[in-house]
Amino acid sequence: MIRICPSILNANFDDLPNEIRRVAGHADLLHLDVMDNIFVPNFTFDLAKSLEIIAESALPVDVHLMIDEPDTEAVKFATDNTASITVHYEACNDPQQTLRDIRSMGVRAGLAIKPNTHMEEIQELLSEVDMILVMTVEPGFGGQRFMSEMMPKVEMARKWFRQKGWDEKWIQVDGGISLETIRTAYLAGADTFVAGSAVYRSDDPAEMIDRLREEALS
Ligand code: DX5
Ligand code: ZN
Repeated sequence: MIRICPSILNANFDDLPNEIRRVAGHADLLHLDVMDNIFVPNFTFDLAKSLEIIAESALPVDVHLMIDEPDTEAVKFATDNTASITVHYEACNDPQQTLRDIRSMGVRAGLAIKPNTHMEEIQELLSEVDMILVMTVEPGFGGQRFMSEMMPKVEMARKWFRQKGWDEKWIQVDGGISLETIRTAYLAGADTFVAGSAVYRSDDPAEMIDRLREEALS
């Protein structure tokens, strides 16, 4: 069981409900990249716009918060159509409390780490998460090269989850996922895949999602 989560970062922002409808029925979750121009050098959507997109989305939404100090802000993204909220370990003042607050809203809690953050730093927090997101690019922009050197982190997460019997926790990768790279990430132990430019720069986004799924499991 794997999940493909198209990121709308490379979609047409002027027609998002329709862009999301194009992939519904093929994708599992919609990945929403929220950037504040502080934690990352780019801005996408504020809270109000994010809630609008989530409400109109034909797919349940996987919110990826690339915002500084998300501690009190994160829970505001919880709605009936929000499947998960992921915060960055590096951005939180109190990651444990923030993850607990997200879970208390009845939403899955995700913890993301940037390429320079080691898995050992978040080991103690893993009992508090429903998903770990291993970034395979520096967060901020779509269309970057997949960092295969992050795969040992994915392998380590998979090993820990197995040892603990945490079968219900997901391991997500985000950045540079394509037909060329998805199998590598799958073999390392990822089960949840974000794909931005691979999906929305292709001629047929829905078909690309099917092909990505097949390629991962090939
Ligand atoms: C990058 C974002 C990603 C981005 C992925 O900071 O978190 O979700 O949209 O885009 P691609 O798949 O093009 O690397
Ligand atoms: Zn993302």
